[in-house]
Amino acid sequence: MAMVEDKLSVDAPVESPIGVSTYRYPTGWYVVGWSSELGSGQLQKLHYFGRELVCFRGTSGAVSVMDAYCLHLGGHLGVGGHVEGDDVVCPWHGWHWGTDGANTLIPYSEKETCKQNLRIRTYPAEEWCGMIVVWFDRDGQGPCWQLPRVPELETGEYYPMHPHSRMVNRVKVHPQMIVENAADPYHIQFVHHGDRPAQVRSFELHEHYLHATVQVNYGGGKPATWLTPKGPVDGLVVYDTYGIGIGFVRFPKEILASVQITGHTPVDDEYTDYFFAMATAREEGDINDEPSERAKRWISMQQRIVKQDFFTWENMKYLDKPNFAVEEAKNYAALRRWARRFYPPDAGEGDSSADCLKSR
Ligand code: FES
Ligand SMILES: [Fe+2]
Repeated sequence: MAMVEDKLSVDAPVESPIGVSTYRYPTGWYVVGWSSELGSGQLQKLHYFGRELVCFRGTSGAVSVMDAYCLHLGGHLGVGGHVEGDDVVCPWHGWHWGTDGANTLIPYSEKETCKQNLRIRTYPAEEWCGMIVVWFDRDGQGPCWQLPRVPELETGEYYPMHPHSRMVNRVKVHPQMIVENAADPYHIQFVHHGDRPAQVRSFELHEHYLHATVQVNYGGGKPATWLTPKGPVDGLVVYDTYGIGIGFVRFPKEILASVQITGHTPVDDEYTDYFFAMATAREEGDINDEPSERAKRWISMQQRIVKQDFFTWENMKYLDKPNFAVEEAKNYAALRRWARRFYPPDAGEGDSSADCLKSR
């Protein structure tokens, strides 16, 4: 589980252009909900990775995510089922299933209290930054990396991330498109109405995460705005993306120190749920949990900016052979080569070249 620090070369020659895998469910961690919306003893029906799932919190407080169908006769646990202790109970004949998916009770059988070898498929689930996240691997392998710590949320220097900033949007897009924003500074001028192109300052690909820094100009072309009262400001925006499912964007203190977490969770072969949450540095001396007016304005501006990308994705076509401009080719092609490691080898363009996935 140790983080691998080897940096992969971005300078490898640009091979023939690379399409995006037609397979939509790469291996990795994915956000599937907000922690505070799942109370003790509650259950939610979910649909992700092209599957019906059920997510529940038992009385011990732990969250479990498993396939939704009961292995007795196929009842849907998420429709009429309920939680008892740490078990989920099927609405049809009352069979119990534990947090590990095992059958724990057949309530009416005098011959067998349960079927010990019967187990519904479960997905490793954690609560992280106020979100419920699951590890998805098509072939059922366990996590090969851990979710990162978020230092900003560990002290009182930032306003709480929840519930003020969060939103989720269902977008008709391949989840990899969202990650590719980090290699695409040239769309900022057109889609996000930047005054001038952003400049990529660094671009690193590691085993399971990507780290990029991009210089962005704020308030360009205007003497003063509410965000840049003293005139235009250049700031370094930092992208960290973990697998295909989880992304961070950190904004500089010259604008407003803040961290944005996005989750890109494939729903099915067409749609992705785009989760968004953000925390900003506190105004000096402000001890309230609710962000200040300026912070709120910044968060809602970011929510608007994120949505500006949607029309490009919802109407695009996935080209087998995209044609990159010279300036963008190196990072774009490197990102696409890196991304292939998260796809099963027999699924579309995947080659599972990451060490943690290769060893299977
Ligand atoms: S189908 Fe679930 S208990 Fe019968
Ligand atoms: Fe964008």
